[in-house]
Amino acid sequence: MRKLPVLLSTPLLAAALATGCASSSPPPSAEAVPAQKKAAMQTPSYLTEAARLKIRANMSIHRENMAGLLSSLLVLDKDSVNHFAAAISAQPRLAQDMSVPKDERIPARVIELQEELHTRADALVTLVNSKEKLKSAELADGFANLAKVCVTCHASYLYPED
Ligand code: HEC
Repeated sequence: MRKLPVLLSTPLLAAALATGCASSSPPPSAEAVPAQKKAAMQTPSYLTEAARLKIRANMSIHRENMAGLLSSLLVLDKDSVNHFAAAISAQPRLAQDMSVPKDERIPARVIELQEELHTRADALVTLVNSKEKLKSAELADGFANLAKVCVTCHASYLYPED
């Protein structure tokens, strides 16, 4: 902050600031992208509302952990990557409710994909705890592999016939 008066005395910067202040409307990019946009998932009708509620509770924890994982990974904070990947791996699996009719159950593929999720979260834990020098590309791939299972499972849930 102490450098500011010096900077402002530069004629070019002063001119740039004056131009910026003269315009009252925000730059076009700020208008084009809404500040808030909430993602919404479609809701297939084959699961019972009780089952969906349970799944959603589980998923909101996944969402938090995944956001934490991304933030940690972006700044190569190995400790935090370890924390969030381990949390995803430790998250309880969805259980199939055998008491509901077959056509109201969670698709078998969705149940299978849970194992994949845990395997990939564990792979990230192993990677960041390795004694080898951390390779940023491997870390990014580890995240992508995990995110891929999230998305694949959601697709299997929404479009089980595909
Ligand atoms: C085994 C399958 C499966 C995996 C793997 C999976 N999800 Fe989901 N997820 C679901 C299902 C099923 C729903 C839909 C629940 C519903 O009907 O609202 C869902 C919904 C969600 C939602 C929307 C919740 C809401 O309240 O609208 C979020 C967010 C989400 N999952 C995050 C994740 C993240 C992040 C991962 C990966 C770390 C992940 N999920 C992995 C099955 C899965």
